[in-house]
Amino acid sequence: MNICIIGAGYVGLTTAAVLAELGHEVHCIDHDERKIRLLNNGEVPFYEPGLEELIVKNYNYLTFSGRWDYIKRAAVVVICVGTPPRPDGGTDLSYIEAVLDRLAATIESYKTIVTKSTVPPGTNEWMRAELIRKGVKPQLFRIVSNPEFLREGSAVYDMFHPNKIVVGLEPDDDQSLTVVQAMYAGINAPYVTTSLAGAELIKYASNAFLATKISFINEMARICDAFSVDVNDVARGIGLDPRIGPHFLQAGLGYGGSCFPKDIKSLEYVARSRQVEPYLLQAVQTVNDTQLDVCFQKLNEQLAPLTDKKIAVLGIAFKPNTDDTRFSPAEALIRRLSENGCTVAAYDPKATLSEPLAHVTQVQSVHEAIQGADVLVIATDWDEFRTLDWPQVKAAMNGTLVFDGRNCLDRHAVEQSGLRYMGVGCP
Ligand code: UDX
Ligand code: UDX
Repeated sequence: MNICIIGAGYVGLTTAAVLAELGHEVHCIDHDERKIRLLNNGEVPFYEPGLEELIVKNYNYLTFSGRWDYIKRAAVVVICVGTPPRPDGGTDLSYIEAVLDRLAATIESYKTIVTKSTVPPGTNEWMRAELIRKGVKPQLFRIVSNPEFLREGSAVYDMFHPNKIVVGLEPDDDQSLTVVQAMYAGINAPYVTTSLAGAELIKYASNAFLATKISFINEMARICDAFSVDVNDVARGIGLDPRIGPHFLQAGLGYGGSCFPKDIKSLEYVARSRQVEPYLLQAVQTVNDTQLDVCFQKLNEQLAPLTDKKIAVLGIAFKPNTDDTRFSPAEALIRRLSENGCTVAAYDPKATLSEPLAHVTQVQSVHEAIQGADVLVIATDWDEFRTLDWPQVKAAMNGTLVFDGRNCLDRHAVEQSGLRYMGVGCP
């Protein structure tokens, strides 16, 4: 099929590359000229494992521009533009609106319009009404909600191996499911078909539930601290129950990224807009918002006074295998240390600090970061930090404390080198 992707971000670009690999003719439109220039030079404007290779491999089927007339040739239009949070917690749909304006000015033949951006329930119905209000004939298009569940850092793998494909359809739409199945032909996954709002809520509920697991284990970590129990034992114990499952039970600095924080706020916002009190969603956010305080307090107890202490922080990205620092707990910790007068040497294999911070230097290696450090903090669980040479680390540091803010290290190996290990919820 001839497919047009709007928005060349993490979701849009991965979708474009995967669909081209499946054999479709794909054109990706983005209003960011710099991004388009880079992509036409075979460069991906952000780090995502395997994505650049997949784009280069499919160059014959994949093109990039800022030109909307490409829409005319496409049978399917996939919307992947940003849906950033509003200050009041709602979702900013202005980019979606901008896309609708362009589509209304361009559509002349039948299109299946697929929304992949994460949008609040009711948005796809509103988009249909808006297109008709802007003059598009109702018989010239169908709207489909097809939320994406890929994770940054494993986006390409996740898109080739989804655990489900969710398709939200208009009530009387008996043709778009076939179109979506043709689009994903070659990807083996169960289809979940539902209404437009059903699909929108499946996406929100997924992210909200995963975040709830994280806040649950972080709260358990606080209780474990009070009883000198290792939260990792608790996570392992409860995770063996298939009704609970072992995933997303890693205690640490809390969840971040471009999705969980904004999607849970948005779900809370829409619940309130319908007079539904979101007790649980609020609690999930309260635990996450205070997790940094808990971790900072632990450091303060060990190192007070913090001022003038030299702290090596390994990790800036919100999670490993990405350069994305949007709502990064690691960066929030670095900011907090800076505000408390600490001297910080921060290192990340791919990510860059999103703003200059007082007394904070971003260095180019672990070796540089740990020189003379009073404490070493693991803030993002990159693999390279799990296998450090701990005797060497001890020799380079001034202090002996390792704070594992992601509970990802082999505690035994750290302590064998004579360093002191402190985790989250580990006695
Ligand atoms: C986006 C949404 O933000 C998220 O809610 C959804 O879950 C998945 O898609 P992401 O791909 O990470 O997430 O967004 P981002 O990396 O910000 O990419 C959006 C792209 O759309 C950017 O490249 C931006 O330049 C482009 N864009 C935005 C347009 O081309 N036109 C617009 O009008 C607005
Ligand atoms: C998430 C969802 O997983 C994905 O399905 C959706 O499409 C987009 O949002 P992503 O934001 O890329 O993906 O990252 P994810 O791997 O889910 O991690 C989110 C945050 O939770 C990270 O900050 C991570 O460090 C944290 N996390 C994750 C924990 O603190 N503990 C865990 O056990 C798992």
